[in-house]
Amino acid sequence: MRASFLHRHSVCVLGASGHIGQPLSLALMQSKYVTDLRLYDLVYATGVGVDLSHMPVSTRVRGYEPGSIDKALKGADLVINVAGLARKPGMVREDLFNTNALTIEELTTEIAKHAPGAIIGVIPNPLNSMMVVAAETLKREKAYDPRKLFGIISLDAIRASVFLGEITGKDPKTLEVPILGGHSGRTMLPLLSIALGDEKITNDQQELITHRIRRGGDDVVKAKNGSGSCSLSMAFATLGWAEKVLRALDGEKGIVVSSIVDSPLMKPKLDLFGSPVELGREGVERVLPLPKMNAYEEEQLDRCLPDLEMNYRKGYEYFHTCKH
Ligand code: LMR
Repeated sequence: MRASFLHRHSVCVLGASGHIGQPLSLALMQSKYVTDLRLYDLVYATGVGVDLSHMPVSTRVRGYEPGSIDKALKGADLVINVAGLARKPGMVREDLFNTNALTIEELTTEIAKHAPGAIIGVIPNPLNSMMVVAAETLKREKAYDPRKLFGIISLDAIRASVFLGEITGKDPKTLEVPILGGHSGRTMLPLLSIALGDEKITNDQQELITHRIRRGGDDVVKAKNGSGSCSLSMAFATLGWAEKVLRALDGEKGIVVSSIVDSPLMKPKLDLFGSPVELGREGVERVLPLPKMNAYEEEQLDRCLPDLEMNYRKGYEYFHTCKH
């Protein structure tokens, strides 16, 4: 008997036919923590579901398209929303705001209606602003549970471990880099000093790696040359995040993952903030206190906050002034 019978979880991917949705769905199909995978998208989700259903795994998979989003969502333990446009060379994440905000609002409204108790992971860019749109939509729908909404920033964490591994010669799988802030420019703050413990890198090295992590998305967009942005390593990172969430739902203790969540750390200035959080059966069990940082990281945190505030303001303005 497969171990997965112990872990019976339903996961719904919104935007499942897209450039992240397809590899993410492939990855989730192979996870022992997922027994029921629902795929939703405006087009082709049924086909993606049929395709994946030919894999010899015991996960049940099914695709849904407009008209049946309720069935895709009903009873899901975890909903991962990857629906949205990807940027092209020459664009910054903020250029995606108008299109993706509308999609986030529409899909979050559906989640509130059909899967009100689910844990929600949000990926589309500009993520910092999209988190505000998702939170405000849930509040409007009276379905906001601050423990259950997550902005997924695990891509920054895996990039950090790979780039840090390259400089130190350490196996990246052994390097857990906590991420503070958010997911754009200076708001991404990898705490490399914490991952290294007693070992040290120079200030120049820390600056170089931090910059490379912040530039990671731009490098992929440029290299893909118009055919999209980071999708495969995003799917890999999101699988890691999802499995942690599902293990915590099973009652495993002490699981920590960096995510953007409703956080006491920067309140009252900022309601949402990315940092390591301990997971539990209801989502966020506890936001961990800020760890002791080195001088470079302290300084970068000061620089991150005004940019985060600006990104959040854009989300609030969209929600409360532009169209509502
Ligand atoms: C990334 O960091 O790769 C993603 O946010 C996608 C992008 O457009 O940069």
